[in-house]
Amino acid sequence: MRIDILTLFPQMFQVPFSFGIFKRAIDRKLVSIHLHNIRDYTHDKHHTVDDYPYGGGPGMVLKPEPIFEAVESIKSDIRPEEDVGALPIILLTPQGRLFSQQTAQELSKYSHLILICGHYEGVDERVQEHLVTDEISIGDYVLTGGELPATVVIDAVVRLLPGVLGSETSPLDESHANGLLEYPQYTRPPVYRGWSVPEVLLSGNHAQIAKWRREQVILRTLEHRPDLLDKTNLCLEERQLVERLTSSPKRSQLSLNKEPTE
Ligand code: ADE
Repeated sequence: MRIDILTLFPQMFQVPFSFGIFKRAIDRKLVSIHLHNIRDYTHDKHHTVDDYPYGGGPGMVLKPEPIFEAVESIKSDIRPEEDVGALPIILLTPQGRLFSQQTAQELSKYSHLILICGHYEGVDERVQEHLVTDEISIGDYVLTGGELPATVVIDAVVRLLPGVLGSETSPLDESHANGLLEYPQYTRPPVYRGWSVPEVLLSGNHAQIAKWRREQVILRTLEHRPDLLDKTNLCLEERQLVERLTSSPKRSQLSLNKEPTE
């Protein structure tokens, strides 16, 4: 996958992609990141990227010309043999559709993405209207710019690319991949400060372990994100478990592996 990022602060991307799994993915050429400073696409002496909003109001607005020119320059560099059709041009903005694991999966199918990091009070609306194909928000809060959201999106997408996580880790098992949260994980020692690993995990009984994990997935989701359960297909037995737990007057049953507080 090739990812082009348009930003006013290319340095913000140096650190996040220089370590661990991400660095390995770049070294193995599973992904390439191309940074473009929007300022480099200005033509005036002062390299102006923003201006006052028409109609007045606070703050500055990113000008359209350098953003259009940067995208056009990236597109014109695509060699015919690299042209694979659809090329999402994504603006990171609090006004966008909410980013989710499903969006990450959707984006991971493309071989090329262009991300535009917004700034200041916003971006000239003609960019949204006539250039971008998608607008993404990473949550209902406002950050100072699109760089951190772009990093979040890229991280979530790249780890889904074939070969990035290695065969030992399956992105299909983890939280949100199937619409629910992940079951609790334990490693050695079996007892730490008097807190034991659930016995079933030490039993070697794989059927029991699978059953316990599925129950924990449901319990944990019910406790932390009950909204997710409404959107997921559960089997009859699992539905009955949810009903039993939610109708129980003892909500403490929902506390996973936590000691009684009394
Ligand atoms: N830019 C500022 N805040 C943002 C958010 N929550 N998501 C995406 N881009 C943003």
